[in-house]
This record gives sequence, structure tokens and C-alpha cells, in this order.
Amino acid sequence: MQRKRVAVLISGRGSNMMALIAAAKKPSYPAEIALVVSNRPDAGGLRFARSEHIATAVVDHTAFGKDREAFERALQAELDKHRIDLVCLAGFMRLLTPWFVKRWEGRLINIHPALLPAFKGLDTHARALAAGVTHHGATVHFVVTEMDAGPIILQEELEVRKSDDAHSLAARVLEIEHRIYPTALARVARGERTIAGGPSHDRNDRPPKS
Ligand code: GRF
Repeated sequence: MQRKRVAVLISGRGSNMMALIAAAKKPSYPAEIALVVSNRPDAGGLRFARSEHIATAVVDHTAFGKDREAFERALQAELDKHRIDLVCLAGFMRLLTPWFVKRWEGRLINIHPALLPAFKGLDTHARALAAGVTHHGATVHFVVTEMDAGPIILQEELEVRKSDDAHSLAARVLEIEHRIYPTALARVARGERTIAGGPSHDRNDRPPKS
């Protein structure tokens, strides 16, 4: 099977991106990381991607003011240029518009540091502790227009310790993230998991050009 060409979108340190890059080094892995895009020129993960000889692009959202679609058209142009099949959000701190999300429906996935549908949005670890949950974890899901609400691909949970603070919890959840993101991407790349739930037919089609 042809390996899927994946773009990883980041805004910061990129540790999930690194986990995906490491997994994709195995010849049997069904995807290759063909591009890393950051909306922030100073994202730490960019340096790592470059050191791995992976193509990188910066699409700085501040250059587009409030015009989210103009930002996304520039992003789309990079994805087209690199013939991307699947997009992984990995600490990408921009909300995407329905224009972009619909265009990539079923080929756009995200990692979220909580057991969705619990604790959508930001500050998940502090909110989980404040709520007194006994279990917490991470989720990989398809992206839909509603934030953190798409079909779940994979989750893993841990037990919250009495001694946990947001920092210690974040560190243990991050270990889970680095484990489940590569597995979830492999399942999607192999067509074992689709946004509709079941396995897919092999699809070589790409999003239409605008
Ligand atoms: C991760 O916890 C991810 O789940 C969240 O933002 C963090 C990004 O970390 N959305 P990194 O940039 O992958 O290290």
C-alpha cells in the first residue's frame, strides 16, 4: 500500500509531532510525515523537523489579521504543494473554519489532552482536577466543525493520583498522547478507521482545488 503523505500542524514545542516522526521511520508504518506547518515562526518543533530533513512551512496567522479563511487558503496552498493526504493537528492553537474542516473531512485528526467528550477546550488538566475525576487521559479524534466533538479514533486513560497537580497530570497524559497518536494515525492511514466509523475503501482522491 502507498504510504499516506501526512502534514503535521503545530504551534509550539511539537512533542506529538516528534512521536509521529519517530513512528513513521519504521518502513512498515503506513504514513510518512511529508510536511510540518506552524502558524508561529518561533515554534520549537520546526527546528526538530528541519533537523530530520522534513519539509517545513510557516503560515503566520498574524499576517492575515482577522481573515481566517485567507490564512487557511495559504495553509491549503502548502498542503497542495506537498500533495498531502492526511492532516494531523498536534498542539495547533488555531480554530479552523468550516471551509477548511469540510474540505478535509475524514482526513483531519487531532489529539486532545482529556477523555472526550469530557473537558473539551483548554486547561483540561486543571479542570479535571477541579472536577475531582478519578480517571483522565487523552483522545485522538476526527475533526468536525464543532470543537473537540468529532468521532473518537482512540483513547487511553490513567488513574488520577491524590498527589497529582496539573503539571504532573499533564506529564503523564503526554506519555499517553505520544503512544496513541501514532497508533491512531496508522489506523486512519490504513483505512481501518473512518469518520463514519467503519473501514474505508482505498481512496487516492484528494480534496478538490479551489
Ligand atoms: C498536547 O498536550 C496536545 O494534546 C495539546 O497541546 C499539547 C501540544 O504539545 N493539544 P506538543 O506541542 O505536541 O508537545
